[in-house]
Amino acid sequence: MIDIHNHIIPAIDDGPDTLDKALELLAMAEADGIQRLVCTPHMHPGRYENDISTIAPAFDVLAAHAKEAGLKIELAMGAEVRFSDEMMFQLRKERIPMIGEWEGYDCLLLELPHPNIPVGIEHMLEWLGKRQIRPVIAHPERNKELMEYPERIFPLVERGALLQVTAGSIPGSFGEKAQATARWLLDHELVQFVASDAHHAKRRPPAMKAAAEVLDGWYGRDVRERLTLTNPDLLTFSLFGKH
Ligand SMILES: [Fe+2]
Repeated sequence: MIDIHNHIIPAIDDGPDTLDKALELLAMAEADGIQRLVCTPHMHPGRYENDISTIAPAFDVLAAHAKEAGLKIELAMGAEVRFSDEMMFQLRKERIPMIGEWEGYDCLLLELPHPNIPVGIEHMLEWLGKRQIRPVIAHPERNKELMEYPERIFPLVERGALLQVTAGSIPGSFGEKAQATARWLLDHELVQFVASDAHHAKRRPPAMKAAAEVLDGWYGRDVRERLTLTNPDLLTFSLFGKH
């Protein structure tokens, strides 16, 4: 499997606070069946002031130690970008590491605020589209507005948004509503990716295998493989090269 969303780089956001804990998470990810992993620390103005200048050096340290520790998991660098006006400025300055390419578009992992779909998102998506960028929306199934009105995802999808469901939502780790919303999005074939969003060995582990087993039961092996391997592989080809 290929994981396109997680918080494993240490001491840069709300992921692990030490290198040892980060390496423990990587070992867990490897044991869970994850072969390739794109590190996506938060870029959240006012909370986690990251951009490529903080992410790149921290990533290099982690990657070097992972290799030294004998881990086989392949690593690449990205970011999870909070929806904000600053995003446009950061994009102009090329401060945002992309998580790959999809149908000729650069892709950024976009985090919406949890309570609602922000006003102006349609314009933002159109603005991104004109710049050959498509967002991958992180865990839409955990957005409160989408939990109530999942059909409100359609205007975003129509403007090029791709969707990433978080693995834990599928077996119900984030509650029944998130699970039901994940299933609704999957039933409507709107989801391209399942990713771990791992933060912590116990509280938020990299648990993609458990999700894959549930997906097998819901939709069968082909769909599970598309969501956890084939689509993430297509997306991250520009980062990792041939699988
Ligand atoms: Fe995240």
